[in-house]
Amino acid sequence: MNTAFVPRDPLVRLDTQSPLRAEGTFIDEMWPAEEDPACPREQAAKGMAGTVAMATGLRPFPEVANAVLTVTSRPDVDLEDLCMLIESDPALATKMLRLANSAHLRRRTECRNLRQAVQRLGFKMVRGLALSVATLETYSDPFGEGRRIREHCAGTAAIARVLTAALDRKVMHEAFLCGLLHDFGKLLLHQAGEINYATIGGPKMARGEDLAQRERERIGYDHAVLGGWVLHQWDIPEPVPRVVAQHHQQEACFLDQGPLGRLTAWLQVADELDHHIVSGAVADEHYFEWYAKKRPFVRVGLTAKDLMKYWGGILAEREHTLQVFSS
Ligand SMILES: [Fe+2]
Ligand SMILES: [Fe+2]
Repeated sequence: MNTAFVPRDPLVRLDTQSPLRAEGTFIDEMWPAEEDPACPREQAAKGMAGTVAMATGLRPFPEVANAVLTVTSRPDVDLEDLCMLIESDPALATKMLRLANSAHLRRRTECRNLRQAVQRLGFKMVRGLALSVATLETYSDPFGEGRRIREHCAGTAAIARVLTAALDRKVMHEAFLCGLLHDFGKLLLHQAGEINYATIGGPKMARGEDLAQRERERIGYDHAVLGGWVLHQWDIPEPVPRVVAQHHQQEACFLDQGPLGRLTAWLQVADELDHHIVSGAVADEHYFEWYAKKRPFVRVGLTAKDLMKYWGGILAEREHTLQVFSS
């Protein structure tokens, strides 16, 4: 195995002292179009850097994820090198195998070993998954709010995968990664003790644009821009950081006519449907008709009939993905 990779530590590279100098462009581009005078961009960038410093401390990013990034960046990726690397982290290897055997990727045969799983997923997805899993596991909170956020991320990823596998296969893998990482900013804010998500909305839990607005009022920025900015800093491949950064901007899915707009819409759709499932509300024709009129659903052409058709698959895949990420 070739071990001549250069380990990198994204946490150390993050410049928490001068965020605007380091990443002014990303923040400028991702900031909501209508700037709120109460939340100036520059102040928000400083606040975000402080949150990241508090949440991450000096914890290292897992070395295996960094090594996977290095190995998959080479023009001639070596399958054996990559598999040996992943196998050095049995928990990661198990997740890859189980995700490759999801009903929506399994065609006729089951992947029996990691080599088959890596070939089915493809190097790009393996790289994204290794980074995503490492990112989420850095902030595990097995019992409390952190667990709830992680489960919502896994559920959203599963829903995005089922729908894109059926209707927009070209963006399927990226849609899954966007779902998995979309509320990473919430984990950071929770870890830093900046926001208590169990109480921020009062008795009725705030979500979506309403939640992002409450965050901006309280701390001057929201979890979406924070998460996207940190993922960008940590080299999670585009377009995931951009989609994450704009997932609570209502108009974002219409601003871009290409994959960025479509991915944003799929994420918004899956995010909303996961909240629906978690709430325990009924899922019937009436609800599906109501959802189908909403902007992101219109953007990707998702109809009530589609939702009826894929709902069983959504519930099954969601359950499978939650199990994968709870181990
Ligand atoms: Fe969110
Ligand atoms: Fe969410």
